[in-house]
Amino acid sequence: MKVPIAQPVMTEKMIEAAANALRNERLTLGESVFKFEEAFAKMCGSKYAIAVSSGTAALQLALQAHGIKAADKVVAPAMSFVATTNAFVPFGVVPVFADVSEKDYTLDPAKVRAAIDLKTKAVMPVHLYGHIAAMDEINDIARKHNLVVIEDACQAHGADYRGKKAGNLGHAGCFSFYPTKNMHVGGDGGMITTNDDKVADACQRMRHCGRKKGSNYEHDIIGYTYRLNSANAAVGIEQLKLLPEWNEKRRAAARMYDQMLNGVGDLVLPPGPTKDVNPVYHLYTLRTKKRYELKAHLDGKGVGVGLNYETPIHLQPVYKQLYGFKEGMLPITERCCREVIAIPMFADITQDQVKYVVECVKEFYAK
Ligand SMILES: Cc1ncc(COP(=O)(O)O)c(C=O)c1O
Repeated sequence: MKVPIAQPVMTEKMIEAAANALRNERLTLGESVFKFEEAFAKMCGSKYAIAVSSGTAALQLALQAHGIKAADKVVAPAMSFVATTNAFVPFGVVPVFADVSEKDYTLDPAKVRAAIDLKTKAVMPVHLYGHIAAMDEINDIARKHNLVVIEDACQAHGADYRGKKAGNLGHAGCFSFYPTKNMHVGGDGGMITTNDDKVADACQRMRHCGRKKGSNYEHDIIGYTYRLNSANAAVGIEQLKLLPEWNEKRRAAARMYDQMLNGVGDLVLPPGPTKDVNPVYHLYTLRTKKRYELKAHLDGKGVGVGLNYETPIHLQPVYKQLYGFKEGMLPITERCCREVIAIPMFADITQDQVKYVVECVKEFYAK
């Protein structure tokens, strides 16, 4: 048996929707884009959703729409995909990395508090692997220090926190539709969610070259070509309809893994649901001191694995070079990044596939 790490869905209905958009709409910022935004905002419970070309573009525009500029500092976790901070580093905005909590791999509020100084203007919690960060505590800190809170919800479409959805828990939420995410758009894409009229307006203009609304060639703000294509939005509309069902299926697969892997070898299981958080298991990530050996074993058995993230952002070569970051700065992040290994997780994973993966993991520890 072969079990991939992820399996993006593309149905005939989605292909047909894309073809319809290609035949009948403006190819970019067509009708499907606005319908997709409306449906996505509804899912999140936010007033606006602004579709863009990637999750990275979403993070960049959300920060810029809140006035974050060169020399301002943004507190973020280093246990994330590099795009979290790549989104603002090119604009001279300074990343300040705070350590994560070992219990759920998201920003530790106490470490956020300790990282703040007079230049800090924003905090960017990442809902890693689909598990929402400690948003109440982070929002409290942000209020006290007058910081903007931008959620990196690129791995958390549809996750719940105290009855609210990811993307509606700070000043703005940012999503990625990269093909392996819990939902995609048949290519790259992203979304910004906000309840703020001015932020929505600025994001709409910035994604469209900074065009003044209603004009063709008048530009009153510096902008970018970050529009979403209509065919991608049409796929996104169909994917969004299935997201709740897909997230439930991921949760069911995670429960199976939890039950069957509990107590096996030195494995640490991922954070599960809590009284506050209902996660969406973008990834199902274990920890072990033997991850390279386990990876080699699973590779040999046709089981896909991911080392998300083997190198924390502050220790990426370019970040070390730019800022002089050194090993030892973020002990918990660094330890977790040395031990994490993701095993197959996708909506359509079958019970037999989960059982096979577990069997292979157990076989490794029985050797
Ligand atoms: C946590 C996180 N932040 C940001 C991004 C960037 O999204 P994109 O690849 O769509 O630019 C991703 C996904 O790739 C991500 O997982």
